[in-house]
Amino acid sequence: MGCDRWVMLVIPIIYALSNVSGELKRFEQPSKGDGSLSFLVIGDWGRRGAFNQSQVASQMGKMGEKLDIDFVVSTGDNFYDNGLRSVHDLAFEESFTNIYTANSLQKQWYSVLGNHDYRGDAEAQLSPLLTKIDTRWLCLRSFIVNAELAEIIFVDTTPFVKSYFQDPEDHIYDWRGINPRKHYIANLLKCALRESNAKWKIVVGHHAIKSVGHHGDTRELATHLLPILKANNVDFYMNGHDHCLEHISDTESPIQFLTSGAGSKAWRGDVKQLNREGLKFFYDGQGFMSVQLTQSNAEIAFYDVDGKILHRWNAFKQFGDHSSI
Ligand SMILES: *[C@@H]1O[C@H](CO)[C@@H](O)[C@H](O)[C@H]1NC(C)=O
Repeated sequence: MGCDRWVMLVIPIIYALSNVSGELKRFEQPSKGDGSLSFLVIGDWGRRGAFNQSQVASQMGKMGEKLDIDFVVSTGDNFYDNGLRSVHDLAFEESFTNIYTANSLQKQWYSVLGNHDYRGDAEAQLSPLLTKIDTRWLCLRSFIVNAELAEIIFVDTTPFVKSYFQDPEDHIYDWRGINPRKHYIANLLKCALRESNAKWKIVVGHHAIKSVGHHGDTRELATHLLPILKANNVDFYMNGHDHCLEHISDTESPIQFLTSGAGSKAWRGDVKQLNREGLKFFYDGQGFMSVQLTQSNAEIAFYDVDGKILHRWNAFKQFGDHSSI
């Protein structure tokens, strides 16, 4: 459309005029002594333990111990229904601190915001005050975790979705720090396109690029973010948003699309295209995902509310080879 062409012309001009630093905040996450790394991925969870949230948390605790995890990744929609009201909102403790109590989960949590988090005080979740209440908590809009073996880029995907701005229905979104949207997105994409020597490259966002669940693909991410993931040789894109567990292999690149958004309310019963090319696994119920990495191997596994393994998948890398098989 003419309008989009206009944007393509204008965005480079905005770059030229503004002094955008273009650097994401970076965190160093040491791997284990043997160089391996393991972590759990959970999304769409904060419901004060309801909808099997506590059961999933308890299985995460067991699996976290077994895999000796280094950290936990949260794919967003951390607090339902409408994020946190403020830094003093007790939902933080009721849905996080008092739920994920297992010893093995007393590690760093790296979180992004989901669309529901933007319906409250989005900045509250980014506040260092929450880290004072629970030292595990770290949530930023977009940031990088350098875990030696892996580089993980966390991307704030909610501002990509145009309909939240144009047709918010009866929801009020906290767009402080986001407007003008196009500038925000363009800057973020510029930061996301980067060289890295890490063996495994992972990108985490709330919204799916590809999903056969209720929300389906996120068109804006497929258009703007996916080409960057391909150019960067990203191995895994991990997301929540659809309250399910799923694994889709890209048909045009080695990228694996992994949805872990089943931290509490699930069983939506809305599945599209079960015959979709590249679809390896889909589960409509609650659960979580684990990731184990070494120099040459990645193992992804999905678990249900009883801790049963539903799907397991391996990727191998030769020395110096950046494509998974
Ligand atoms: C909790 O998990 C069990 C086992 O999957 C399921 O049968 C039940 O419906 C779940 N409860 C809710 C509220 O989703």
